[in-house]
Amino acid sequence: MAESPMLGVVASGAGGVEGLFDGLVRPALDAGWRVGVTLTPTAGRWFRDAGLVDEIEKATGLPLRVESRLPGEPKPHPPVDTYVVAPATANTVAKLALGFGDNQALTQVSEAIGIDGVEVVVFPCVNAAHVRHPAWPGHIAALRAAGVHLVDGEDVWPLTEPRSGEWHPIPWHAVLDAVNSTRP
Ligand SMILES: Cc1cc2nc3c(=O)[nH]c(=O)nc-3n(C[C@H](O)[C@H](O)[C@H](O)COP(=O)(O)O)c2cc1C
Repeated sequence: MAESPMLGVVASGAGGVEGLFDGLVRPALDAGWRVGVTLTPTAGRWFRDAGLVDEIEKATGLPLRVESRLPGEPKPHPPVDTYVVAPATANTVAKLALGFGDNQALTQVSEAIGIDGVEVVVFPCVNAAHVRHPAWPGHIAALRAAGVHLVDGEDVWPLTEPRSGEWHPIPWHAVLDAVNSTRP
């Protein structure tokens, strides 16, 4: 029997990321993916502080990654078929579009964008001000041109103004649908 496809879940420091396990990790495991989770340093700090690391490691059977490995250490996660970056902050989207790899999460996904056969799904968890930044349209265009599947649009993630008090839950279902649509 063929091995289950491997999903690399990457998450950054956006509000709602605390729901990553119930929203994405558990449903992806239930849908038949193997899952390895990597967080940006910001999200890693939040998860450690909230005690959210153990349930992820127990369920996935893999270490939750934040730091890069030492050169002599084996790779902690198997090769990935699909990466999903959800939620992706404005910061992480910008750095991905420019190819930065200044943390482990970005190192993996920036490289994956250039690997044929590895799919990348990104949910930009941004507000109306982030989108008005003059560099934003270029970042999104670069990611689309590279074949990245973007989970966005008014029906999925209506943009709110910062400090408006308006708030939306992370659209985990739309993220999971996009992930499952890439299944090899
Ligand atoms: C409670 C909280 C919620 C945040 N939510 C968002 C968000 O939804 N989108 C975003 O782009 N930044 C958000 N930020 C700001 C990011 O955490 C910050 O820009 C950080 O440097 C991102 O780092 P990372 O992309 O490496 O995770 C939030 C910060 C805090 C403290």
